[in-house]
Amino acid sequence: MDKNVGEEQEQPWWRQGVVYQVYPRSFADANGDGLGDIAGVTSKVGYLDALGVDAVWLSPFYPSELADGGYDVADYRDVDPRLGTLADFDQMLAALHARGIKVVVDIVPNHTSDRHEWFQRALAAGRGSPERERYIFRDGVGDQPPADWESMFGGPAWQRVSDGQWYLHNFAVEQPDLNWSHPEVRADFVATLRFWSDRGVDGFRIDVAHMLTKDMSEPLLSRSELDALPRDGLHPMIDRDDVHEVYAEWRRVFDSYDPPRTAVAEAWVDKARVPLYASRDSLGQAFNFDLLQADFDAGQFRSVVQDNLELARASGSSSTWVLSNHDVVRHATRYGLPHPERLPNGDPVRKHGTEWVASGGVSPELDRALGERRARAATLFMLALPGASYLYQGEELGLHEVAEIDASARQDPTFFRSGGEDFGRDGCRVPLPWRPDGTSFGFGTDGAHLPQPAWFADYAVSVEEADPRSTLALYRRALALRRSLQTAERLEWVQTGRDDVLHFRRPGGWEVVTNFGAEPYPLPRNDAAIASSPLDEAGLLPRDTTVWFSAV
Ligand code: NOJ
Repeated sequence: MDKNVGEEQEQPWWRQGVVYQVYPRSFADANGDGLGDIAGVTSKVGYLDALGVDAVWLSPFYPSELADGGYDVADYRDVDPRLGTLADFDQMLAALHARGIKVVVDIVPNHTSDRHEWFQRALAAGRGSPERERYIFRDGVGDQPPADWESMFGGPAWQRVSDGQWYLHNFAVEQPDLNWSHPEVRADFVATLRFWSDRGVDGFRIDVAHMLTKDMSEPLLSRSELDALPRDGLHPMIDRDDVHEVYAEWRRVFDSYDPPRTAVAEAWVDKARVPLYASRDSLGQAFNFDLLQADFDAGQFRSVVQDNLELARASGSSSTWVLSNHDVVRHATRYGLPHPERLPNGDPVRKHGTEWVASGGVSPELDRALGERRARAATLFMLALPGASYLYQGEELGLHEVAEIDASARQDPTFFRSGGEDFGRDGCRVPLPWRPDGTSFGFGTDGAHLPQPAWFADYAVSVEEADPRSTLALYRRALALRRSLQTAERLEWVQTGRDDVLHFRRPGGWEVVTNFGAEPYPLPRNDAAIASSPLDEAGLLPRDTTVWFSAV
């Protein structure tokens, strides 16, 4: 069989890498102040190496008031003093590189923090000043904002300042949108990309990559007028064609390094337009969030895979796969809740997830074991797909979302801006349990900035390291095996005769079968290389289980 090894040897790491997302404030706390830090990441380099990931992506660790978990950046070229120093960063980078692990950092170009020096100067300089030009300031209409736009986090998207002008913030009030028509804004981000590239960073994750450029010509349209416009590249606010002029310039920066720096776009755009971001002339790769929006359902998984492999082909990039990240309910929990309701257009409404968080994790009842079993099956399915897989810290432990966070302990602006109706994202950002005991389950020497529930003890790293049947053991085995089986970026589907069973084959003979259904499925072979749950009955693939076969 054609193993396509030669084809693969030419491939850069990011095309089929496994990237582990670290949410730095919740990963490991080396100085005992309750917040995870850079030295904490360095202390866990051995853990990341043993896990077998190719790269680490760090969510923002820059100076920040934490109005949005660090996505409100006050200085793009420094480390938050609570998280360490640039010297700590260099040490972490060297330690990861010494293990062959690449490092990707998060760039947040749509908005700064309101504590950013530029914004502070804009406030001080007053209306009509050049300082205000770097942001989007406008006069209101009488006492009202310039337009009735809503922020992504709920509530108005315009905030009034003391001299009566308003500024645009598509996210939290503390996150003023930058004016990407301004040459200084463009030049400053190029300087930031160079700053981290010069330090040796391997790549960048670009936050809200589809919203930077805007057509703010007057009169401003109303919210309903904006909503009614097609997203065809000319929409005033979202996914404009001219954003790729910014990325073309960034591409020249990336390519001026050896090896070229990489980038992945967080772009919530119509499917057909994803290849624009993933193309080699633009950022080079784009996130695909379709799996994390799908139910644990064979039909949905298959069409997500099919669509995204086609999109990747259209851009010349590889696809990305994500089941969990710092913005969504962890997949072990999503799959353990009753089936979510759907909007008429088919979009998932995580209604039960929301109710379940609202009830503090009581109603509707979460089936923890089912959720974990399905999460393991989905992960093993994902890890065998052609392309890059993104893992979110804690998923390798089978960790569940934490529902039982008191309102007084919550941090996410979506919770506050929705008057507590949207519970937000704190539940997936609770500091990791490293040990089953201690004040913060080994996260640090003192407390944790978000409360950890007692059940975290069962998911602690040290507990799972001692258990060969644990989710951690499964991830480690799967990642090692994936490395040895990795092959050309293609798959072919094999008929199963069942709507709830998927079977695909990669070049070289790596085969994958997932049983999404309730009835056991007769296995095509009896030499399984790995299975997401025990294969109790000979020759049968139990429900909610994935199995891999290596080459014959
Ligand atoms: C996307 C990030 O993933 C999210 O956490 C953040 O709140 C928004 N962008 C705004 O920066």
